[in-house]
Order: sequence, then structure tokens, then C-alpha cells
Amino acid sequence: MPEKPYFLGIDSSTSSAKALLMDARGVLVSIASTALSLSTPKPLWSEQNPEDWWLAVSASIRQVIKESGVAPADIAAVGLTGQMHGLVMMDEAGYVLRPAILWNDQRTGAQCDTIRARLGKEKLIQITGNDALTGFTAPKVLWVQENEPEVYARARHILLPKDYIRYRLTGAYAMDKADGSGTILFDLKSRDWSPEVLAALNIPAAWLPPTFEGPAFTGTVTDEAAAATGLKPGTPVAAGGGDQAAQAVGVGAVEPGVVALTVGTSGVIFATTPSALIEPEGRLHAFCHAVPGMWHFMGVMLSAAGSLQWYRDTLAPGVSFDDLLKEAESVPAGSEGLQFLPYLSGERTPYPDPMARGSFVGLTLRHGRGHMTRAVLEGVAFGLKDSFRLIQNAGLGQINQVRASGGGTKGALWRQIMASVLEADLVTVNTSEGAAYGAALLAAVGAGVWKDVPSACAETIHLGAHTAPDQTQVDVYRRTYEVYRMLYPALKPAFDRMTD
Ligand code: XUL
Repeated sequence: MPEKPYFLGIDSSTSSAKALLMDARGVLVSIASTALSLSTPKPLWSEQNPEDWWLAVSASIRQVIKESGVAPADIAAVGLTGQMHGLVMMDEAGYVLRPAILWNDQRTGAQCDTIRARLGKEKLIQITGNDALTGFTAPKVLWVQENEPEVYARARHILLPKDYIRYRLTGAYAMDKADGSGTILFDLKSRDWSPEVLAALNIPAAWLPPTFEGPAFTGTVTDEAAAATGLKPGTPVAAGGGDQAAQAVGVGAVEPGVVALTVGTSGVIFATTPSALIEPEGRLHAFCHAVPGMWHFMGVMLSAAGSLQWYRDTLAPGVSFDDLLKEAESVPAGSEGLQFLPYLSGERTPYPDPMARGSFVGLTLRHGRGHMTRAVLEGVAFGLKDSFRLIQNAGLGQINQVRASGGGTKGALWRQIMASVLEADLVTVNTSEGAAYGAALLAAVGAGVWKDVPSACAETIHLGAHTAPDQTQVDVYRRTYEVYRMLYPALKPAFDRMTD
């Protein structure tokens, strides 16, 4: 290891490719980001070209090295994270056969039914920990099998987005266990591919790479990748983790009892589990953690801060978020009976329903823009409570702390609403670059800087502001949440007709 080592975390997300450098005490040195766009060639489709990820990641690595002034020889290891579940199919020679089908692609409803029919829903959940959802990878593989047989016939390798970056960096086909379990081709307990699921879906086991625990090294940077990125040839690359597991590492949610609440475009409630627990109906995702030997539950809401962004851009273009939030602050808790359902891109938890739709319900002449803004903030908080309650009831024991991160938790008003709705203390942390930071920590653990992931988190992640529930709001929100819970089941038949 270099005398003064640095660690590079790479986050290949849907919207950008980030490269983050930290030193061996976990202090952030520099960060670079390159924007990415996605294509929706048909309704419900969402695709990106893996070559674009690689170009963006290479540009960000070159930039972070240049701006930090850190010598490439002092970068002791690289850790990878990225958007989960996306399908990259490659031929024998490693050429990408079609654009990647992403986590937010909704085309595979029929293939999810096929998976349930072939394995039985109960057995599927028992083996993989999860029901078949359009977001996951397995139904995307079946979609290609059924709809693009000529592509399927040439396929020899299946990778996830960050593992395509690994392939370009190191030439190795490899994957971490956290992301592997998000394919639902995984046996959750044994933390590896499930021969039974692969056989039922006619997917050759040889197409899937070996899987590794988060801090394990999976290969080293090749000469060709060094020329493209500026890294030193031979730099080791750690397995890392899917973005949610790496985000949890980046905020220190690495032991049972500490829950991570992330409010970005999507909203996630993440809880570490010490064994392969499952929610029997599959309403929570159950995946491997990036912490070796740990698992986690996760509830995912698809439009969290994304709902507020849509609302501002569509109904109040040009108005600042600060001004909108000030208006919302003067409206009483409960928005005087106005409700917002945040299902703008369908939903995952607790309603795995691509046809669910966003809605304002209960508008009267009395309601103004402040009410509508507040209803959006409250509706998102109620959606998060749906996941939080499932986690509270999943047999995990006491939740001691909720660590809040992501753009949506920066403002005091929304944090207060979330604390009162969840009836939990929210705590912010000093690290704001969650997933990329978590990936860098995993690389540092792999290099031996810390003995394990929890020790790395304990030394580098510190707690910030506390937000406690406000008892007056709690009473109002208990009543309002009951009404919120009535709305999806009542509207579901109409949503189905609307999208017919
Ligand atoms: C997690 C999930 C998203 C994507 C997007 O299950 O689908 O977090 O990984 O980044």
C-alpha cells in the first residue's frame, strides 16, 4: 500500500457517473460527476447504453485525479457501486448485445407472472426473498428470451451496470452479492446463484459471474483501462455493492437497529438484518448487504423527492423550492383534508403496481398552492411510513435510530413532517455522498485500513442534527394516514381502467 493511500469510490447511477476520492481516515478529498441521460424508446421502457456509462465514468475518474492532484500511484484501491437491477447482456467476446434495460423499466409485467407461475410465488419468495417485480433483473432476461430470440441466442454473459464498469476496468466478469441478490436469481440464504431458479427460467448458470462480498478484491485495472481513466495499471478493484447497500454503508446503517431513510428521486427505508429474514408476502425487498455475512430489508417508493420535483416543474415552474416550502409551512398539518398519492411512476412498496397513478384527492375551493405543496410532502411521508411499518413488523426487533440522507431530508420542514409521520427521531450524518462514499469505504476495508465495515463506519461517520416528532402533528398525522391508507385500494380499479 502507498505511504499515504487514497481510495476511489465510483457510483455509476442513472443520472450521473460520480468519482469520489477519500483519504485513509475517510476524509473526502474531491468528487467529480458526469451527467447521463436515459432513453425511453417506448412507453414503459427505460434504457441506457453501457458504453455511455464507461465514457462518463472514465471522464469523472480523470477529472477527480486532475482536480485533487492525487498521484494515481497513491490510489490504493477502487470500490464500485451503481444503479441496481439493470440488465447488460454480452456475447462470448464481451460485446454488449442491446441497450441495458434499467431498474425503472416497466415492460416486464407478463414475465413477472411467468416467473411466479413457473416457481410458485411462495417458493420464489422463500428462495430469493422477493416476489417477481418489473424492476428486478430476472424478468428482463425472460423478456429478451421471448421478444428478442436472436439477441438471446448470442448471449453468453449477464452483468449489472456497475459490473459492466468492473469489466471495462479489470477485464473480469464478477459481481458483488448485494447486487447479485437484486436479480432474484439468487438464493438469499446461501448468498449465491440459485440453481433451482436458473433451471426454472432456462437461464444458463455459465452466463452469470462469480459473486463476492463487498470489500473483496475482484481484479486489477488493466493497461487499457489505465490509459482511459488515468488510474495506475494494477490498482485493485473491490466488489462494492448495489447503490442502496453502498448508500447504507455510506451513512453507517450496517447493524440491526439502525435504519437508513434515503429521500432522493426515489425514497428508501433500509434495515440491516443479521440473517436471511424474509417478509412472507414479499412486500419488502430482502437482499444481501454489502457488509459480509449481513442481509437487509428494504422498502422502495419510486417517486419521493421526485414527486416534489415534478410538482414544482409542472405546477409552479420558476418558483424556488424555498418559496414553495415557506407557503407549505403556513398550512396546518394535514393540509386541511387534502391528500396526495405519490405514485407518479407506479409503485413498488407496499403496492408493487406499475399501473398505480399519482393523485390529489379532496380538493376544495379553500385549498391553495401552499396546501398542495404540503400535501405532496405529507403524501411522500405517508408512503415512506407504509415501508417503515412493514419493517417495524418484520421481526427485526427495536429500531433505535433512523439515519436520514438525500436531498429530500435537507429541509427542516420535510424532516419534521417525516419525523412526526414515522413517529421516530431522525438523525442526519456528516457524509452526504452516500453510495460513492460507501463504495470507497468498502475498498478501504478490502485494503486492510479497517478490520471490517462496521469499524470503518464507526470511525468515519458522525451524527448531525436530530429531529424529534412533534406531538401535536403526530395526532393529526395518525388520523390523516388512516385516510391515506384507504385511497389506493379505493382508486385501484380506476387506475387499472385508465391504463387499459
Ligand atoms: C433499488 C432500486 C434503485 C436503483 C436506482 O432496488 O431499484 O435504488 O438502484 O438507483
